[in-house]
Amino acid sequence: MRTVVEDCSEAALKRAADLIRRGDICAFPTETVYGLGADALNPRAVMKIFAAKGRPGDNPLIVHIADINQLRPLISAAPGETALRLAAAFWPGALTMIFPRSDIIPDCVTANLDTVGIRMPAHPAARRLIALSGAPIAAPSANSSGRPSPTGAAHVFADLNGKIPMILDGGECEVGLESTVVELSGEFPRILRPGGVTAEDIARVAGGALIDDCVLRPLKDGEAPISPGTKYRHYAPRGRLTIIEGEPAAVARKIRDMYDSAPENSLILALTPRAPLYGNRRLIKLGADDNEMAARLFDALREADALGAENIFAEAVPRDGMGLAVMNRLARAAAFNIVKA
Ligand code: TXA
Ligand code: MG
Repeated sequence: MRTVVEDCSEAALKRAADLIRRGDICAFPTETVYGLGADALNPRAVMKIFAAKGRPGDNPLIVHIADINQLRPLISAAPGETALRLAAAFWPGALTMIFPRSDIIPDCVTANLDTVGIRMPAHPAARRLIALSGAPIAAPSANSSGRPSPTGAAHVFADLNGKIPMILDGGECEVGLESTVVELSGEFPRILRPGGVTAEDIARVAGGALIDDCVLRPLKDGEAPISPGTKYRHYAPRGRLTIIEGEPAAVARKIRDMYDSAPENSLILALTPRAPLYGNRRLIKLGADDNEMAARLFDALREADALGAENIFAEAVPRDGMGLAVMNRLARAAAFNIVKA
């Protein structure tokens, strides 16, 4: 199959929407990461997503809507007060809410769960595509399963060239990490996957927020995750990634030691202001703060592969604000290989 890359002109968006209407798939930009979309109500179309990504069938997809009126038919009961408040505060945006699902949603979308994750993205091209398609769009991140999520059209092309008919190129994603996934069955929202909307922001709107304890630790043997996606190794570069955590000066010392005693082909991932601490060692700068780091992290992991890095040493960041999502992705990319400085 030939993969066409197009800009997000109205004509290209119409061609993409035609693909979706016909039961085919298409990659498109969102403000978080690129998605690989299909008509969420067409099971045969949705199965093409799983095939193109090599995604395990037990990992449910997020359903994307462009208008709040699209929500009610997808869920089995009217949204509760907390959901309404969160939607008012963060939609359109980087928040996915889990609801009891209605019967119109095919089983393959939710991997047979009785719930469905729904998000209204903010990116204008994503909204327009959904509107032109006339259907909610089921979309996971548009990477091959296990690879870092795509934050640019070139990432999608690298993973899915020849496997999908079209990629809409909307430039680099602003947030750069996926949406925050929250479950709403308890008194306070529970964060299953930290992301573009911070726990602090959610707590401010909902009066509190819980962070599921799977967010920052590996699953135990045989443990069933609440969010099925969390059991798979994710975001992994090909080199061996180690996260170094501790007091800032000690972290730099430890990374210099590890780098200098490692075999060839080592690479450091560090915040830009700290780059001078590493002299002329090979390094990718991740920006000035945790927001910039979120936007650059996945590209940096892919870049590490392109450089052929065999050992990658990354500085830990504090687990607040966007730092929680950054550490969640880093820890998974490192298969929880975290050392204390
Ligand atoms: O920002 C994003 O969320 C991007 C863009 C394209 O919207 N999408 C994305 O999708 O990251 P994906 O499939 O890569 O990740 C979806 C996550 C998975 O961890 C999945 O297990 C979880 O959401 N999820 C989806 N439906 C769920 C449900 N009903 N219950 C619990 N977790 C669910
Ligand atoms: Mg994904």
